[in-house]
Amino acid sequence: MSELDQKSSKTKRRSFELIDEEIKNDPVGSEPKIRLLYNKIVKTENDTGKIFNLKYRVYVCALASSEILEKKNIGQNEFVFHGNMYSAELEPKNDDLDDFDPAEFSSFQEYFLTEANKSPEFMSNDFWKNKERDTSVFFEKENFKSFKRHYGHVLSNFIGGRFPEDFQELFKFIMKMGDNRILADVHEDFDARHIELIFSATPTNKPQDAYATFKQYVLYTSAMWRMAVYLDEAKNLTRVSESLIGNPYRIRFNGRLISQDLARSVTEYNLLSKYINSTSKSRVLEIGAGYGRLGEVFHQLSDVQYIIVDIMPSIFVSRFYLERRHPKSKILDFRDIAKIDRLPDNFEEYDFIFLTPNQLKYLPDESVDMVININSFMEMSRTAVDSYFSEIDRLSNGFLYTKQWFRNLSKKGVELFNKNNYPVKGHWKLVREQYDQLHIKFFEQIWKLGG
Ligand SMILES: C[S@@+](CC[C@H](N)C(=O)[O-])C[C@H]1O[C@@H](n2cnc3c(N)ncnc32)[C@H](O)[C@@H]1O
Repeated sequence: MSELDQKSSKTKRRSFELIDEEIKNDPVGSEPKIRLLYNKIVKTENDTGKIFNLKYRVYVCALASSEILEKKNIGQNEFVFHGNMYSAELEPKNDDLDDFDPAEFSSFQEYFLTEANKSPEFMSNDFWKNKERDTSVFFEKENFKSFKRHYGHVLSNFIGGRFPEDFQELFKFIMKMGDNRILADVHEDFDARHIELIFSATPTNKPQDAYATFKQYVLYTSAMWRMAVYLDEAKNLTRVSESLIGNPYRIRFNGRLISQDLARSVTEYNLLSKYINSTSKSRVLEIGAGYGRLGEVFHQLSDVQYIIVDIMPSIFVSRFYLERRHPKSKILDFRDIAKIDRLPDNFEEYDFIFLTPNQLKYLPDESVDMVININSFMEMSRTAVDSYFSEIDRLSNGFLYTKQWFRNLSKKGVELFNKNNYPVKGHWKLVREQYDQLHIKFFEQIWKLGG
C-alpha cells in the first residue's frame, strides 16, 4: 500500500470512528445527518466499500434511534416487554371482535351484492369468487376474531415458504448488516391451528411443515420489520402501533409488537405522503383495501378522508375493523348511500367511507387527491380494471399509486397484466417507478394527472 493510500485509509477510519461515536452518544440526533451523508455519497462515490460502510451506519443508527423514540410508548397496551422469553400470561388480551355475528355478516353480504350488482363490470372474476368460497371458513364465529392469522395471509401478510426468493432477498440484507439479533426477537409459541387452517382453506398455499412455516414466518416478519425501520427516515414506525384487534401473531422486537402489515403500510405511507398536500384535508381513495391496514395508518398519521371501494368479504372486514380500531372516527357505508341513491350532503365530514364499486359514480369529478391500488388490479378481470381506470380518470385531481406483481406467478389463469400494460390514460405521466424494497417481486408506480 502506498503512503497516500495508507493516509486515505486512516482518514476514512477516523471519519467512521467519529460517526460511530456520534451514533453511540445521540442516535436520534445523528440519524438525519448520517442519512444525508449517505444519500450524498451514494450519488457521488464509486468506492462500494465506503458506500456499504455508511449504509451499515444508517442501519445501526435507525434501529438505535427507533428504540429510543419507542420508549415513550411504554405503558400502551401493545407495548409489553417479555424479557428474552415469551410469556403468554403477560400478553394483553383483546376481545374486541367477540361481538362478531355471522348473521350480520350474511345480511351485510346480501346488501352488498344487491347494490354492487347494479354495475357488474367492476365485479370480481372467478379468482376472487373462488377465494370467497375457499375462505368462508374464516368467517365462522370462532375463527373471525383471529382474522389477521388467516384472512390476513390471503391479503398481504405472507407466510414463509411460498415466496422463498423474496424472503432470501430480505434476509441477505440482514446478513450483510450482520444483525444476529434478528434471531432473538421474542415470539409466541407455535400456532398450529391457524397455519393448518390456511393450508386447508387456500389451496394455492402449498402445504408445508406447519412448524417450519411458522418459524419462517416469524423470521420473515422480523427481517421485513428491520428493513422498514431502515427505510423509515420520517420515524413514522415509532408513531403507530399494531392493534390487537384481529389477534395478530405476537412477535416482539424491543418489547413492541411488530408485523409485516405495519411495516408495509408505514413504508407505503412515507412514499405517498410526499405527494399529498398536508396543509389541507386531502381525500384518498383506495380500491381493494383488504382489511384496511393502510387506511388505519393514514388515519393515525394524517388528516385525510379515506374512501374504500372493495368487494366481499374484504369490505366487511375493513368496515368492521376500522370502526373498532378508530372508534372516534365518523363512518359512512354503502348501506346509508344505497337508501338515498347519492352521497349525503355532509359526506365531506366523514373520516372513512365504504363504497360498493357502482357507488363510485356518486363521487364528484376531480374530487380525489390520491387513488391507491395495492396488489389488487393484478387479480381483476380486464373489464373491471378498464372500468376502474375510467373512473380514476374522472375522479382524480392528482395522483395514482399502484403496486402489483411484476409477474403474477401465484395465480394461474389471471395473469393478464404486467408493469407496462395497465390501461393508464395517455394524459397521465409516470413520475416515479421502483421495485418494492420490502418485496422485490412487486413494482410501484406513481402517476400524475397531466404530467
Ligand atoms: C391481495 S388483496 C390486497 C389487499 C390490500 N390492498 C393490501 O395490500 O393489504 C386484494 C384486494 O383487492 C380486492 N379486490 C379484488 N377484486 C376486486 C374488485 N373487482 N373490485 C374491488 N376490489 C377488488 C380484494 O377484495 C382485496 O381487498
